[in-house]
Amino acid sequence: MNEPRKILITSALPYANGPIHLGHMVEYIQTDIWARFQRLRGNSCIYVCADDAHGTPIMLRAQQEGIEPQTLIDNMKVQHERDFADFYVAFDNFHSTHSEENRFFSEQIYLSAKAKGNISTKTIKQAYDPEANMFLPDRFVKGECPKCGAADQYGDNCEVCGATYSTTELKNPYSVVSGATPIEKDSEHYFFKVADYADFLKKWVNGGAVQKEIANKMNEWLEGGLNDWDISRDAPYWGFKIPGTEDKYFYVWLDAPIGYIASFKNYCDRTGIDFDEYWQEGKEDETELYHFIGKDIAYFHTLFWPAVLKAGNFRVPTGVFCHGFLNVNGQKMSKSRGTFIQARVYLDHLPAEPLRYYYAAKLSNGVDDIDLNLQDFQQRINSDLVGKVVNIASRCAGFISKKFDGKLSDTLAETTLYQQFIDASESIASAYEARRYSKAMREIMALADLANQYVDEKQPWVLAKDETRQQEVQDICSLGINMFRAIMTYLKPVLPELAAKSEAFLNAGELQWDSVASPLLGNEINRFKPLMTRIEEANINQMLEANKEHLAAAAALQAKTGAGNNKEESQLAKDPISPTINYDDFAKVDLRIVKIIKAEQVKGADKLLQLTLDLGDEQRNVFAGIKSAYDPADLEGKMTVMVANLAPRKMRFGVSEGMVLAAGPGGEDLYILNPDEGALPGMRVK
Ligand code: 2FM
Ligand code: ZN
Repeated sequence: MNEPRKILITSALPYANGPIHLGHMVEYIQTDIWARFQRLRGNSCIYVCADDAHGTPIMLRAQQEGIEPQTLIDNMKVQHERDFADFYVAFDNFHSTHSEENRFFSEQIYLSAKAKGNISTKTIKQAYDPEANMFLPDRFVKGECPKCGAADQYGDNCEVCGATYSTTELKNPYSVVSGATPIEKDSEHYFFKVADYADFLKKWVNGGAVQKEIANKMNEWLEGGLNDWDISRDAPYWGFKIPGTEDKYFYVWLDAPIGYIASFKNYCDRTGIDFDEYWQEGKEDETELYHFIGKDIAYFHTLFWPAVLKAGNFRVPTGVFCHGFLNVNGQKMSKSRGTFIQARVYLDHLPAEPLRYYYAAKLSNGVDDIDLNLQDFQQRINSDLVGKVVNIASRCAGFISKKFDGKLSDTLAETTLYQQFIDASESIASAYEARRYSKAMREIMALADLANQYVDEKQPWVLAKDETRQQEVQDICSLGINMFRAIMTYLKPVLPELAAKSEAFLNAGELQWDSVASPLLGNEINRFKPLMTRIEEANINQMLEANKEHLAAAAALQAKTGAGNNKEESQLAKDPISPTINYDDFAKVDLRIVKIIKAEQVKGADKLLQLTLDLGDEQRNVFAGIKSAYDPADLEGKMTVMVANLAPRKMRFGVSEGMVLAAGPGGEDLYILNPDEGALPGMRVK
């Protein structure tokens, strides 16, 4: 027997100012399944995580809510932990990056890097808000697109015409914090010289620690040359002060991954586990360390992070596992379509385990996105889990309880059939180990099909009526129950609650991977209670309805507090009111009610849809930058409002004869205006 492996795994740390949604859950479920699988195989697997509690968005959101950042992050941590627990994501430790352990390790690593000469300083120019007295991250500056003039565009690209440019090119730029016009100001920043570790990174990337796709990307980055990484931010900033400075703070992305170490240290202090065994430099051969992350943050984890660990004299990860994003019903999760589903809203209407199974059935070890198709989800759960797996037990258990006092046969009816269940063990285990969960689920469902076919063929319900064939009934149903037991053992990492209920029913202790090889013979099982119920379409629809209400309430709060997305580089949707105009100016704008009679994709355009609008006595062709928020099919037949006297504009795809009105920060968060019932095409908006 091999020595049990000692494994430490992490999931990316969720930002502490936003709720957990089903997109996040892909990663936590993926990681949790892996942790449970490792333990079921007899390995030690410690799973730690934490809230990512620093940065400008958290600081500003707390300000807007009139609370201390500490209060905000404390409240959010309670919610996050509850959501995870209810999805059966069982961390060994869930900590916070705003912790003493994290301050300690962040300072230690920084000082070690500094002593090695890996830190440099440079004065840089940055946008500064003279009213809020703070430097502005890129995403906190907006203005008019220098190409098409569209209002409220970010400093890097225009969501209306698709142009890219630099922040300084924006026309009439404003700070999304105060609305003031930003000025440029010099500031001294601290940089980590990643290039000092280029040779090590080149070796590490090609040593099998990352997936092929990621290694290719990393090699491109490495060949392109590594720029120094800006790791400081100026006060006011919510984070840790850089030792030896008065007003410089570590950038959130420096101390976030150090939070993995800090959370583990906190765990060791609670449990007496040896910290050094997992993190000391040179421990790479004794213990394994894996980070599960989304592909969007590979850069931070595969370039900066290993180099930072080296600089701090820590061991480096054995592997970094990237996954893709979640789509819902074939499209990016979207607030306007109501598919940006919060974990809590899902849990209020649907059980957690079906989602765990569905994700498992879709997940591979690649970086492709996965799709949660809600109709397919319902069918899949009802057919695989209720119709196949649970059905095996429910078909057999009644006979064993009623006719044989709950006792299973002393021998196995068909050893060759059961042998297939034993033989499947290693192939299923390899699939789990390689994070090829969809393959594992396929193999397990093939076993469920075999078990059901067996019961179908043997028809114990027919034999039960014949007094002379009772032994056969007991043997068939006992084999059925043993096949169910094997299947539930293999599914245990994915379905921990169903496994626990099955353990209670089987009455033979905990399901262990290896005990599939020793079937239950002569054991007494407990009375069967329904293990899982079907998912009804109504539950899904109610969940979607509740989610829409939730999103609307969150948008209203966002409008009130200005609290926006949770990323450092994301915006806070606080559009300042434009300068006053007089009535004559307003009267010049001819706003009309229109009906969208046709909506089509525009070949070659990233952002635009082509709309045919009915104004009552004429039709207009308009290109609208709302592709990211709407399906053309959903728009047809809708009434909305257009600027009817805007001078026609020649675009690459044709002439646009006006503009439809939409509100929102952009992307999928864009809402066309709908008039009340009774408004007719052509009516003037006054
Ligand atoms: O992208 C994110 O959501 C970050 N909060 C992930 C941090 S992972 C780790 F580095 F801390
Ligand atoms: Zn533009």
